[in-house]
Amino acid sequence: MTETVRRPAIVRTIADLRARVARWRAAGETVALVPTMGALHDGHLSLVADGFRRADHVVVSIFVNPTQFAPHEDFQTYPRTEGPDVEKLAGLGTDLVFAPSALEMYPLGNATRLEMAGPAVGLESDFRPHFFGGVATVVAKLLIACGPDFAIFGEKDYQQLAVVRQMVSDLALPVTIVGATTVRETDGLALSSRNAYLSAEERAIAPTLFAEMSRVAEVAHAKGDVTAACAAAGAALLAAGFRQIDYVAVRNAVTLAAPSGEAGEPLRVLVAAWLGKTRLIDNMAA
Ligand code: PAF
Repeated sequence: MTETVRRPAIVRTIADLRARVARWRAAGETVALVPTMGALHDGHLSLVADGFRRADHVVVSIFVNPTQFAPHEDFQTYPRTEGPDVEKLAGLGTDLVFAPSALEMYPLGNATRLEMAGPAVGLESDFRPHFFGGVATVVAKLLIACGPDFAIFGEKDYQQLAVVRQMVSDLALPVTIVGATTVRETDGLALSSRNAYLSAEERAIAPTLFAEMSRVAEVAHAKGDVTAACAAAGAALLAAGFRQIDYVAVRNAVTLAAPSGEAGEPLRVLVAAWLGKTRLIDNMAA
């Protein structure tokens, strides 16, 4: 007997998204949203599986959001693979894909953009100052359009997750934000759509990021000299073939401020570094 795969419906307008979700709501059913920019990999699929553990229906948004890219960044070349993405989502029983146009999300004359402080300050913002305003704005719009009970984000983009939590709390949006564990290759490399940019040689070097980050996490956990550990990790990454280190840092895991040194403070190691033309970011608990 052949199994029938249920393909997700694809909607492209906010009105259609709202209509579908309203039908579920009318039946007393719950909804999880997984916001993505497409080019889906197993990390994204684990977010969908998480959504199904929490809610009756899972909506995946696929939208390469122009407002979180600076003019010199990879917006034009970012992989757009809607067909294969929908196939992967069908395999998981995803109910609905929301794949709007840029004009649907940002109608002509739109003039509203969120500005984030708090956990958005430093780290990524030092190198991508436009980024969190764009992310917070599009995520707020997606949450308002969909009205989910849960929204699931990967911990891989740890600062983004903290910024989204802050934005949702500040705007009192009625949604539970869930952070899901990073999915890694067996050699430690965190799954990312941008891994597709790596050459074979770069792919062989890339796991050094996880190895060095782990070393810093051990030192931070043992209350050792994290400044020296971060500097040593940066030097080791450069020696391994990374081109530029944006940051290797240990921060308070909740506020992302510099550690206070208080006993029991949760710590997070965060790294961003360039391997050839690809910028890799990662993080882990210390
Ligand atoms: O992490 C991403 O893929 C994006 O930043 C997000 C959250 C979908 C917003 O565009």
